Amino acid sequence: MKGWGLLVFSLHVISCLVSGVSSGRTSSYVRTEFPSRDIPLESEWFAIPKGYNAPQQVHITQGDYDGKAVIVSWVTPEEPGPSEVFYGKKEKQYDQKAEGTTTNYTFYDYKSGYIHHCLVDGLEYNTKYYYKIGSGDSAREFWFETPPAIDPDASYTFGIIGDLGQTFNSLSTLQHYEKTGGQTVLFVGDLSYADRYEHDDGIRWDSWGRLVERSTAYQPWIWNAGNHEIEYRPDLGETSTFKPYLHRYMTPYLASKSSSPMWYAVRRASAHIIVLSSYSPFVKYTPQWWWLKNEFKRVDREKTPWLIVLMHSPMYNSNEAHYMEGESMRAAFEKWFVKYKVDLVFAGHVHAYERSYRISNVNYNITSGNRYPVPDKSAPVYITVGDGGNQEGLASRFNDPQPDYSAFREASYGHSILQLKNRTHAVYRWNRNDDGNNVPADTVVFHNQYWTSSTRRRRLKKNHFHLENLEDLISLF
Ligand SMILES: [Fe+2]
Repeated sequence: MKGWGLLVFSLHVISCLVSGVSSGRTSSYVRTEFPSRDIPLESEWFAIPKGYNAPQQVHITQGDYDGKAVIVSWVTPEEPGPSEVFYGKKEKQYDQKAEGTTTNYTFYDYKSGYIHHCLVDGLEYNTKYYYKIGSGDSAREFWFETPPAIDPDASYTFGIIGDLGQTFNSLSTLQHYEKTGGQTVLFVGDLSYADRYEHDDGIRWDSWGRLVERSTAYQPWIWNAGNHEIEYRPDLGETSTFKPYLHRYMTPYLASKSSSPMWYAVRRASAHIIVLSSYSPFVKYTPQWWWLKNEFKRVDREKTPWLIVLMHSPMYNSNEAHYMEGESMRAAFEKWFVKYKVDLVFAGHVHAYERSYRISNVNYNITSGNRYPVPDKSAPVYITVGDGGNQEGLASRFNDPQPDYSAFREASYGHSILQLKNRTHAVYRWNRNDDGNNVPADTVVFHNQYWTSSTRRRRLKKNHFHLENLEDLISLF
């Protein structure tokens, strides 16, 4: 970035750093026409791997609480075949083996392939592992890298993607993300949009699994379910909710003492990530409510300074689409977000991008007259990234005027990148899919909510810990 670009960017960063609250901005960018139809089933992007019963739809996710395990999942179409993962630290030298399990399901007139899930644990931190699944000529090989050990200054880069679907825009988002250096995806719900297909539901779950394998086989995606995963279809005789999603996508919920794969937490590098389910009971005394109450107590900011929450339906959203849908979860959980000084809350659902200032509405009272969110230094920043590129298109109608709490909003497809630099600073940017180009359109340096309090700043100074200065951070771009 040179000249005017750097100057404009610097001014924006500085304004974000000093901002308590300043006026928000609605981007004037208008995207040109770009296909938003689903990729045809016969497309090469959905190609079935060669060989009889070859493993397909390979994806990995974190398999434990602290990042020393992965769950490897895949589908074999013709017969179960082995559920073994062979792995090791050298390419083609698989000196270790883990044994998994196989499941399958039916959905109306669809019968799934054989879905394998295999926990690979006892891994070393900061290590590249190669792995092989399948047998004979149909075997396939991949690799992944484990994160650094849990440490307050461990740097790590997350991508944030939501509402992805399987259109050419979805593909564009994936291709852009792959160039960013992101190490793990925080996925904020609505995966395949297969539920939009009456009789091709299962087929579109399969095609989506093959589309995203280019990323999901090589790095963990931290899963979170959206409304398109509910799939409650009594008219088709399907009355158990989240059936395809729960069969296909595992989460390490037991490791965080959760009673359901729909809500859980993982720790990775310097981050503690809490995944909430917008479509499971969460009001007072429900299992999710109790679990979150206890999980917040387990957060140790001395070890994992960055406290991040994922959900599908945003608590703060000034788009006409899904307006106020997250209000009931806000009423249930916002006071804890403020009490525990959550850094960032990422959501999807709304097919546009929006970032808030640090605000809260915890004093809202239906009889007191306190009705509006107010600046609150203990509150998280709320970010909506429901713009992965699905077939439903963009949510282009924002409420006017832009509310005071809304810092930046734009109706474009894209994804976000969060670079945790150390215990005090993170560099964040949202990248717009600019008709094939990847353009940073919103960039912010976030100060950690725990370590940048005045007393802890003094402690860091005393221990000769040098905060990165603005010039260093800007030079990253
Ligand atoms: Fe949604």
